[in-house]
Amino acid sequence: MNKQTWIIALSFLALVGCGKHEKPNFTYMPDMHYSPAIKAQEGIQRLPVAGTIPRGYEPYAHQDLDPVAAGKLHQNPVPRTKETLARGQKIFNTYCIVCHGAYGEGDGSVVPKYPRPPSLQSDKIKGYADGSIYNVITLGQNLMSSYASQIAPEDRWALVHYIRALQRAKNPSPADMKFVEDRNAALAR
Ligand code: HEC
Repeated sequence: MNKQTWIIALSFLALVGCGKHEKPNFTYMPDMHYSPAIKAQEGIQRLPVAGTIPRGYEPYAHQDLDPVAAGKLHQNPVPRTKETLARGQKIFNTYCIVCHGAYGEGDGSVVPKYPRPPSLQSDKIKGYADGSIYNVITLGQNLMSSYASQIAPEDRWALVHYIRALQRAKNPSPADMKFVEDRNAALAR
């Protein structure tokens, strides 16, 4: 190459370097630029080694038990506080209300397109131990699928407290009624 050709070649390269950076007009050796990107959830996923569990995760110990048997074995470890009930309400309204309805009576918005679930106000569920309701949420039951992957264990227990609150709201004790009357009277004053 003579001197003139070099100058032309160099000024060409210098020009290529100009322009808007976000949209290059000319890409030299574009191999890496247009690499085939793999998006999340696309292609072959590597499975964890069999038996692997995430850190801090405690597997549900009663996989093989029915709700009644499981209910006898574990108590609700989450205290029933205002915050817990609010959390339970949020989870219920997110995951359960569509089928079970606002008070758990089986009148959710997807019913009757989806088969009507049994009422959570039944004597059966009222008589269930907390651990029995937890068992159904964790493992699912017939048509209802498991919610173990969507709802964390503490939130499932909070949900059980909230279902109890729904049952109590539909069947208040005389003391509950007196509390409400006294509060309403105080508010009216
Ligand atoms: C897609 C609709 C659907 C959703 C969402 C759903 N369920 Fe259910 N649930 C059902 C059906 C249907 C049954 C009855 C299953 C069967 O045939 O045993 C049931 C059964 C139950 C039972 C046992 C009732 C009994 O009498 O045996 C409990 C407790 C329960 N669900 C709680 C929940 C909670 C808590 C949630 C939210 C995390 C939830 N369900 C979300 C449809 C649903």
